[in-house]
Amino acid sequence: MINYLMYSKIMELIEISHPLKDHYLTNLRDKNTDFDTFRTSASKLSYFLVVEATKHLTTSEIEINTPLTKTTGVHIENNSVAISVLRAGLGLMDGVQQLIPNISFGYIGVQRNEETAEPENYYEKLPDLVNKNVFILEPMLATGGSLSFAIETVKKYNPKNIHALTVISAPEGIEKIKENHPDITLITASIDEKLDENWYIVPGLGDMGDRLFGTT
Ligand code: URA
Repeated sequence: MINYLMYSKIMELIEISHPLKDHYLTNLRDKNTDFDTFRTSASKLSYFLVVEATKHLTTSEIEINTPLTKTTGVHIENNSVAISVLRAGLGLMDGVQQLIPNISFGYIGVQRNEETAEPENYYEKLPDLVNKNVFILEPMLATGGSLSFAIETVKKYNPKNIHALTVISAPEGIEKIKENHPDITLITASIDEKLDENWYIVPGLGDMGDRLFGTT
């Protein structure tokens, strides 16, 4: 099957620019932000990522009646799927769920194999992805290993296109995705400076999963 993935050769990278996005991102970065504010800030920030990622959704015209007259409106096809990379990806689900009509959800859990050091999945539950707009939610793009693995997994099912949504992206992770998956679109709220020696993003926000779920 010939689809979108075979045409696009240079990864499209979009960094959102908006003062409200900066406000919610500041809440996420601040180590003194409490759990409630952290979660609601992640949720609100997800709307900005989703609005950008859905700019090119296909619509068809429909005829409707306002209280005054007939007019035309749009219908969004039911062909989108959001996939959370566990567990931090769960923090971005609000935006997709609230904004994209009839979206389906999938989940991928990725971990490093202790013997081979290669990423592998410990959980996979996906709806039908054939010819779908797929939005992969992976808030922290650090080395790019788990996002690259999630994209590879999704590609096996022949989606129409893939958008990866991240809160913070490190240059190292961006390079890896560019190299491995030039046919996707990466949408991020911030491109940060670098990774530290423990593969944390700097300045970053610490461990997204721990901060979302109150674990340490
Ligand atoms: N994952 C996180 O949660 N934070 C980082 O800085 C890098 C990976």
